[in-house]
Amino acid sequence: MGDRGGASGSRRRRTGPRTASGGSGGGGSSGSQPEDELRAAAAGAGADAGGGGDARTPDAAPALTRTPAGEGDGEGVEHSDLRCHRVQESLFSSASGFSNYRGILNWCVVMLILSNARLFLENIIKYGILVDPIQVVSLFLKDPYSWPSLCLIIVTNGFALAAFQVEKCLAKGTITERVGLLLHMANLITMLCFPAAVVLMVKSITPVGSVLALGFYTVLFLKMVSYYQVNLWCREYKAKKQAASETRKANGDVVSGGVKYPANLTYQDLYYFLFAPTLCYELNFPRSPRIRKRFLLRRLFEMLFFTQLLVGLIQQWMVPTIQNSMKPFRDMDYSRIIERLLKLAVPNHFIWLIFFYWFFHSCLNALAELMQFGDREFYRDWWNSESVTYFWQNWNIPVHKWCLRHFYKPALRMGVSKWMAKTGVFLASAFFHEYLVSVPLRMFRLWSFTGMMAQIPLAWIVGRFLQGNYGNAAVWLSLIIGQPVAVLMYVHDYYVLNYEAQMIS
Ligand SMILES: CC(C)(COP(=O)(O)OP(=O)(O)OC[C@H]1O[C@@H](n2cnc3c(N)ncnc32)[C@H](O)[C@@H]1OP(=O)(O)O)[C@@H](O)C(=O)NCCC(=O)NCCS
Repeated sequence: MGDRGGASGSRRRRTGPRTASGGSGGGGSSGSQPEDELRAAAAGAGADAGGGGDARTPDAAPALTRTPAGEGDGEGVEHSDLRCHRVQESLFSSASGFSNYRGILNWCVVMLILSNARLFLENIIKYGILVDPIQVVSLFLKDPYSWPSLCLIIVTNGFALAAFQVEKCLAKGTITERVGLLLHMANLITMLCFPAAVVLMVKSITPVGSVLALGFYTVLFLKMVSYYQVNLWCREYKAKKQAASETRKANGDVVSGGVKYPANLTYQDLYYFLFAPTLCYELNFPRSPRIRKRFLLRRLFEMLFFTQLLVGLIQQWMVPTIQNSMKPFRDMDYSRIIERLLKLAVPNHFIWLIFFYWFFHSCLNALAELMQFGDREFYRDWWNSESVTYFWQNWNIPVHKWCLRHFYKPALRMGVSKWMAKTGVFLASAFFHEYLVSVPLRMFRLWSFTGMMAQIPLAWIVGRFLQGNYGNAAVWLSLIIGQPVAVLMYVHDYYVLNYEAQMIS
């Protein structure tokens, strides 16, 4: 009975007041003599009123209200108030205005956990435990006495110091801007070619180790472009001030107070920028007041935990699924390829989401906390993207910020059209994506490049035809399906190139 009463109460709350005096009817505070009599009569006539079981429970006793004079019977009240129906929409109809689907969201989570628990069990039964931490080490090192990736990473210092020396000379005026530009260009081009050549020539370097090393060089490349441009802007600003023959000493820094150009050209400043979780150089970075130890420990714990989880998921879930996808690819069995693709999409997507949190939240925040770097906007709410454009503006803020500040806006200022500038940014991004995959795999297939360039027409199609939730679903779908397509393409081609004989046997 209690439950029934509760449910009834909840139903009333949600459906709102039925009549103007519904509230007082329950309490009976304003009840009059004839009303009490009618209430008693109503209890007897409950079945007639059509209330069914509800009407007979005291909790669900129909409220009685006065009706405007002349509308009811001679006493000003009518039995029509015993009705239990009214004009109303079903909750799933959009006209009902109902929007509380919290319970359904919880149901989705429970279903997700249950179905993945089943998948997990199936995986363990089928393959046994595949997680092997020792194997992870072999992904980075072929020979324990040869550490080519680490050596490459250490050499990055040479390129950073070369850029620093060029900036020093430019600040002193010992070389012209043109010579400075040429030297920077040579340094930047070597920064990309040198590690690629090493990766392609040194046999002892592993693909994973190469990705790591090339990742460092790519970050350094973007940072050094920013370092050069910002220092150039400072020199231009300084020259403009001098040309205007202002009385106060021009310093080229747009921020009043703090370090001013060229006092920023120190090793300490350079290395702070090299380690800071940003690609955009600034003379005076916003700093946090202190290192929060609990915050830092939480981020470090997350880093460790998610690293283990990522490795485990890749070894246990992703690798066997990819291996099982090779035969349908070789046989060109399209229905099986699609089945395999959809199967791979699930672990791939989970791994990508965990990677996002691990890198953009745990790692970058831990680094920022250690360095007291104040700007923690490493990502925005890309998961609400209703367009592909919104996704690229919000998922990787360090790269997006760099693209806007050092590529897109300067291109617009030079008179390049918006469309051309956007295409240029995506072209550069596609190049780096391909660089980070093709060189370590020693195989040039352009899948990654094509995937990145496909974002331009995809953005147009989604923006043109899909809005709101449909747009959001399209973005999710492109992420869930697009990535495993590229992964399968590369892995298939890599296996065919390197292990075809073993695969056939
Ligand atoms: C190409 C890209 C930079 C375009 O960015 P966008 O935000 O869609 O571009 P918009 O045209 O909306 O303009 C952005 C900025 O330029 C400014 N702008 C626009 N037109 C301008 C003009 N004619 N002159 C000067 N500034 C202009 C806008 O005011 C805006 O400034 P704000 O950011 O300070 O508000 C973005 O899509 C991008 O970063 N893509 C690549 C992402 C990527 O590869 N990431 C890799 C992750 S792994």
